[in-house]
Amino acid sequence: MEDFQHQLLIVTGALICFSALLKCIRFMKYTFPHVWSALPQAFFRSLGEWAVVTGAGDGLGKAYSFELAKRGLNIVMISRTLEKLQRVANEIEQATGQKVKVIQADFTRNSVYKNIEKDLEGLEIGVLVNNVGMLHNPLPCRFLNAPDVDENLVNCNIISVTKVCTVCVKSKGLILNLSSGLGTFPCPLYTIYSASKAFICTFSKALQAEYKEKGIIIQVVAPYGISTPMTMHQKPGLITKTAEEFVSESLHYVTFGDEIFGCLAHELLVIASDNL
Ligand SMILES: NC(=O)c1ccc[n+]([C@@H]2O[C@H](COP(=O)([O-])OP(=O)(O)OC[C@H]3O[C@@H](n4cnc5c(N)ncnc54)[C@H](OP(=O)(O)O)[C@@H]3O)[C@@H](O)[C@H]2O)c1
Repeated sequence: MEDFQHQLLIVTGALICFSALLKCIRFMKYTFPHVWSALPQAFFRSLGEWAVVTGAGDGLGKAYSFELAKRGLNIVMISRTLEKLQRVANEIEQATGQKVKVIQADFTRNSVYKNIEKDLEGLEIGVLVNNVGMLHNPLPCRFLNAPDVDENLVNCNIISVTKVCTVCVKSKGLILNLSSGLGTFPCPLYTIYSASKAFICTFSKALQAEYKEKGIIIQVVAPYGISTPMTMHQKPGLITKTAEEFVSESLHYVTFGDEIFGCLAHELLVIASDNL
């Protein structure tokens, strides 16, 4: 009996050390991405000529559009408000010299995909960022007290991801699906948002398993706080990143596996909360 207890303690200790080692390795990867897995300068451009970004008029989508253009891709920006799209498209073209095409679409409506497919026809798409998403309410609230926007939210947060993937998953390339830290656990007071983001995590990981062999990288990005219109431009700080900081950092990690939190600060937040 004593012998068994002794063996059990050794195995438990070994498992704890192994799990700590895995966390350290993960932490090192995020701290020194250039050493660990430096992406060649031309990595993004080598995937194809165009990047498609949904919800591109503001916040993270705007930042993804800018960053991918800086990395040599032409951009298709798809979003709701045409004037905003056109203004950002001009800024990107002037700053980077890349071509930018805009498509106006409201993803709460499921009638938009025929038009999107037609507009994307013939483009060599290398990168897709399924970024569009909405909250049920800007502030946390109980399910029954929230405005009745369930159908819109499901269309915008879930159906858009599956539909745009259907249009764009063809051959090799990179697909980034924006989930949320709040989708990695059942988050009360954000119930339907949290559930919709959990769908994105599961969908992306299963899709990656299906299409890895074809050379398609599918990664789910699950950030915590970022200062954007969605978070009412929360003041940036140690944890809350600006959209530009977050996107430029997270693009270093696109080959780091099928799920990332997107920046070192959010990775550390997850490690710390796992150990509470
Ligand atoms: N910000 C955060 O802290 C945070 C954290 C975790 C995950 N996320 C996720 O990251 C993604 C981007 O978030 P964000 O903070 O950048 O969002 P945002 O500030 O609300 O910006 C979203 C962009 O998407 C567009 N959009 C919203 N609803 C749309 C619809 N129904 N059809 C077409 N376009 C629509 C908006 O269009 P208009 O220009 O017309 O307003 C805007 O350009 C979302 O999926 C969100 O869930 C964000």
